[in-house]
Amino acid sequence: MSERVTRVALIGSGFVGASYAFALLNQGISTELVIIDKNKHKAEGDAMDLNHGIPFAPYMKIWAGDYEDCKTADLVVITAGANQAPGETRMDLINKNAHIFKDIVDDVMKSGFEGIFLVATNPVDVLTYVTQKYSGLPANRVFGSGTILDTARLRFLVGQEFNIDPRSVHAYVMGEHGDTELPIWSNTNIGGRLLSDYQRKEGFPSQEKLDEIFVNVRDAAYQIIDRKGATYYGIAMGLARLTKAILWNENAVLSVSTLLTGQYGLEDVYLGVPAVVNRSGVREVVELQLSEDEYKKLHHSAEVLKKALQSING
Ligand code: 2OP
Repeated sequence: MSERVTRVALIGSGFVGASYAFALLNQGISTELVIIDKNKHKAEGDAMDLNHGIPFAPYMKIWAGDYEDCKTADLVVITAGANQAPGETRMDLINKNAHIFKDIVDDVMKSGFEGIFLVATNPVDVLTYVTQKYSGLPANRVFGSGTILDTARLRFLVGQEFNIDPRSVHAYVMGEHGDTELPIWSNTNIGGRLLSDYQRKEGFPSQEKLDEIFVNVRDAAYQIIDRKGATYYGIAMGLARLTKAILWNENAVLSVSTLLTGQYGLEDVYLGVPAVVNRSGVREVVELQLSEDEYKKLHHSAEVLKKALQSING
């Protein structure tokens, strides 16, 4: 880890925010973490609780702060907002969460903030788009968690099917972080061997099995919310991974929600695509060669997101 001071400002210390703070501390990713929540008592309680774990973890300065503390932050991570009740979609949260974002982003920008925004609140693609508009920051410095978690879910389930460590599974979920997302089977490889090669030579896994895996990926949040009311550990670890890629200038390829400016034949929409992430934010989008069907589904997902944006703009 570099000797440089790195400051992360976390806005929203609910289940996702607090789990993210815990992941950052355990992995020693940043030297400073300021927790900002509209309920200052909650932020203070979390800061105290986390500080008591410092003797067991890499050192990190953690405190409950205010928007002024964003001035010198390298990264502002927004997890604030309502989350889905059982039966609700991510898109259903659009009106509840879009209006609070204006105030949050304005308050961060008033501090003199010059860093990177990472958005996790749902519907994440839509809220990342509005964050970029409200902040006026260059698009490379405003991105969302996008399909990082869906990609992790896919890799986990494919890994289980093959009995292979998910870190050796190379596969992406792209598009909306939500109901119109799609798996990119055409590019999937397990340790370098294409999925289609397994299917051709070994007749395994069947298309039905792949469809079942994808449905479990797409619907994972619903399944978890039904069981425990919310999802937070997986996304928190995804956010920690992204934070590390940024602060450690990794040039890591991760699926994030970023502004498309012609890639995949799409523009003026934020959606999940593999991208190179480093200290400047999103360095560039990685443009995969998609199958015709994947390309069509990606365009459908983009259409749904554009309509959702119009519904808040109009
Ligand atoms: C998730 O996918 C709800 O977006 C959250 O776990």
